[in-house]
Amino acid sequence: MFKTRISELLGIEYPIVGGTMMHLALAEYTAAVSEAGGLGVLASANYKDMEKFREALRQIRRLTRKPFAVNLNFFPALNQIDNNQYLDVMIDEGVKIVESSGHRAPEDLVGRIKKAGMILIHKCVGVRYAKKAESIGADAVTVVGYENGGATGNLDIGTLCLVPRVVDSVRIPVIAGGGVADGRGLAAVLALGAEGAIIGTRLLVAEETPLHPEIKKRLCQATELDTRLVLRSLENTHRVWKNETSDKVAELEAKGAGLEELLPLISGMVTKEKFQQASDGGLLACGQGIGLCTRIQPMREILAEMARQAEEALRRLHRLMPRLPGQDQLAH
Ligand SMILES: Cc1cc2nc3c(=O)[nH]c(=O)nc-3n(C[C@H](O)[C@H](O)[C@H](O)COP(=O)(O)O)c2cc1C
Repeated sequence: MFKTRISELLGIEYPIVGGTMMHLALAEYTAAVSEAGGLGVLASANYKDMEKFREALRQIRRLTRKPFAVNLNFFPALNQIDNNQYLDVMIDEGVKIVESSGHRAPEDLVGRIKKAGMILIHKCVGVRYAKKAESIGADAVTVVGYENGGATGNLDIGTLCLVPRVVDSVRIPVIAGGGVADGRGLAAVLALGAEGAIIGTRLLVAEETPLHPEIKKRLCQATELDTRLVLRSLENTHRVWKNETSDKVAELEAKGAGLEELLPLISGMVTKEKFQQASDGGLLACGQGIGLCTRIQPMREILAEMARQAEEALRRLHRLMPRLPGQDQLAH
């Protein structure tokens, strides 16, 4: 498999990060990604109670001995998050890898993160934010293009252009995503200069992801046309699945609705409940890569299949260049 600065830095078999997911990236999901050979990322914001957060970290350790990360959330929230509290528990429990994401870099926490000897990965959506992450001392940066499921920011840059721009602008290794949903996508971002891929949407249909099976079945039938952007009016643009809830949100936003009117549809509590029902799924982050997700599979199978497909893509490219040295080894 591919050996990159990211697989080396993080100690993972495949250079694949399983994207953190609000309400879904709990202990079992995180451990399943790591056990499958990627990097699982627990979403700390899922835990309001620090003892439950601590228990989730311990549960991951019971389920896997492999590396995992914890995401610190810097997105706007109704109930403001104090990331120092999460960091206290993480330091206490010996967490080794931190991912930060949101509307700013974790400048205020980087001192504590470094002092504790943790690896810091910052996730963002543009060159200027990636440079900022590097300047504060991040060990790696993740960038996601406009195709991605979840927060897209407001720059609207596609993965194909964003990744090489970021690779050319920073020295630290880059993890890239936004539309990576199979091994061809993994090979593509590596070809663009990234040293790892991040996938979220593809994992919505992993067996271990705690979404209702009926929703997963419907997602397997969705195509790349079945996503839309919402919440731009609140300066919190997200790419989500096109369903009754997101249709309604889009309609209300177009009419100029404010937070109060939108809240019954977008609040975390409502969303969380709908993920567990055979309902329309609520406001579910989902990227264009959903068009490539056609069946529900175990996590281990998804990651192994992606690795195999990426190798096949590389072989195909080599065959297009018959005189390339080393082609003999790759031809089969
Ligand atoms: C359902 C869902 C929830 C997500 N929640 C978060 C989140 O809470 N924080 C975050 O940084 N990213 C979140 N993401 C983004 C993923 O971690 C990842 O960056 C993204 O899905 C990668 O792009 P892709 O969907 O095209 O694979 C979420 C994505 C999905 C699909």
